[in-house]
Parts: sequence; structure tokens; C-alpha cells
Amino acid sequence: MISWRDEISWRDDLPAAARDGATVVALSLREDHLAPTPRDLQEAPSRDPARGAFLRRRALSRRIVAARLGVAPQSVEIGHGPSGAPRVLAPSSSLKISVSGRADFCAVAMAESPIGVDIEPSRAIEPPWSLLHPNERNILETLTGEARADAFPRLWTAKEAYLKALGLGFARDPTKIAIGLDFSILDEEAAPTILTRGWRRFVLRGEDFIAACVVLG
Ligand SMILES: CC(C)(COP(=O)(O)OP(=O)(O)OC[C@H]1O[C@@H](n2cnc3c(N)ncnc32)[C@H](O)[C@@H]1OP(=O)(O)O)[C@@H](O)C(=O)NCCC(=O)NCCS
Repeated sequence: MISWRDEISWRDDLPAAARDGATVVALSLREDHLAPTPRDLQEAPSRDPARGAFLRRRALSRRIVAARLGVAPQSVEIGHGPSGAPRVLAPSSSLKISVSGRADFCAVAMAESPIGVDIEPSRAIEPPWSLLHPNERNILETLTGEARADAFPRLWTAKEAYLKALGLGFARDPTKIAIGLDFSILDEEAAPTILTRGWRRFVLRGEDFIAACVVLG
């Protein structure tokens, strides 16, 4: 089971909502007064607007992790592992996290097992055909109009969420992984245990988004 949350007032809702299980929080980013750690400043891109967006995402991730662990946000440290995957470095815990976002929106996912999340604007774009598995191309080629516009972001967010749960991102060849419209995952190079998976639509500041989350055993 995945617990999906949006536009929360984290002070009131999150501690109760995010205590256990897999939780995904999708939010519009706002300025945050939480002071960045030296690691946050070092890992942030060097220039705005990417730097500001990263620091707001990181501050929000620290608050969400703090709420889950029942500690002060100032005591939470998050860093990137060698592959770029985010990790909770302090306090010591078995919590796994995943992050997705752009300038002014973000999704943060947490679970006790490897987890991946991806969130994308839900709008019609031409699929990047060369990055798709043949099965995915077949699915999309049989669809037209709204059906294709709906299917592609689902397939793509699910694939990115799975690649993040593996901790590999696009270090893996995305054409070797086929996502189905029922969120089936065919991986030609691995046989992972999928504990849970799902999609959810969010409306953030009036814009439609689709988020996918995968938790591995
Ligand atoms: C992970 C990846 C799929 C994310 O793609 P994206 O759509 O651009 O960005 P998203 O906003 O959805 O996700 C960004 C988050 O992914 C996370 N991430 C990065 N590398 C990751 C990895 N290997 N595993 C899991 N998560 C990863 C980071 O937490 C990052 O957020 P942060 O910088 O705020 O901490 C992509 O950046 C990737 O594959 N990176 C690693 C490999 C790489 O850089 N290859 C070279 C390009 S082909």
C-alpha cells in the first residue's frame, strides 16, 4: 500500500500521515527557512535557478523525513550516494527515500525498502521512441489522441520510478525495461521483487501531474 499525500500543512498532517508504510508526498515548493547543511550547499548545482530549486527540495525532504522519524528537521542530513541516489545520512535509520522534481514542484517518497518516485506534468508530448522498449512502442502505437497522451506519462514515470528504486537511474538502458499499462514491469536484465507500485494524479497550483512510485523487496 502506498499512502499518497499532497499540499499538506506538514506541521499538522504529516506526522500522523507518514508514520509507516510507503508514503509519497507531492508539493509545490515554497521558500523554506530551514538552514541548509554544508552538504546541501556543496551538493547543490552552482547556479540559479537550479541551485535554489535543489535547496528548496532538499529542505522539504529533510522536513518530511524528520516528520516520519519524529526528530527535528535540523538534525536530518540527506546526501547523494555514488550513483546520485538520495540517502538519509542522519539520524541513523533504515529509511529509504526517493526524490523527483523540477523548479517549483517536487515529490518525496519514503519506505523501509528501496523506493523510487517520479512526477511529471501530465501533458501530451511526443514519446522519445528510441528510449522505449519494443513492447512500450507497440502499446503507444496502437493508441491515439487522448489515450496516447494519457498512456505515455504513465509508462515513463513508472520506468523512472523503477530505475530510481534500483538506485541506477539511466545508468541502466531504458530500452531493456518494459512497463505495461497495468504497471507490470518486465526487466530483461533483472528479476526484482516488487512489493508495491502505483500511479496517482496530482493538481499542484492548478497544473496536472502524474506520479509513479515503486517499492522493491
Ligand atoms: C535519476 C534520473 C533518472 C532522474 O531523472 P530526472 O527526470 O532528470 O529528474 P527527477 O527530478 O525525476 O529526479 C531527480 C532526483 O533523482 C535522484 N537520483 C539521481 N540519481 C539517482 C539514482 N541513480 N538512483 C535513484 N535516484 C537518483 C536524485 O535524488 C535527484 O534529486 P535531487 O538532485 O534533488 O536529490 C537521472 O537523473 C539519472 O539517471 N541519473 C543517474 C545516471 C546519470 O546521470 N546518467 C547520465 C545521463 S544518461
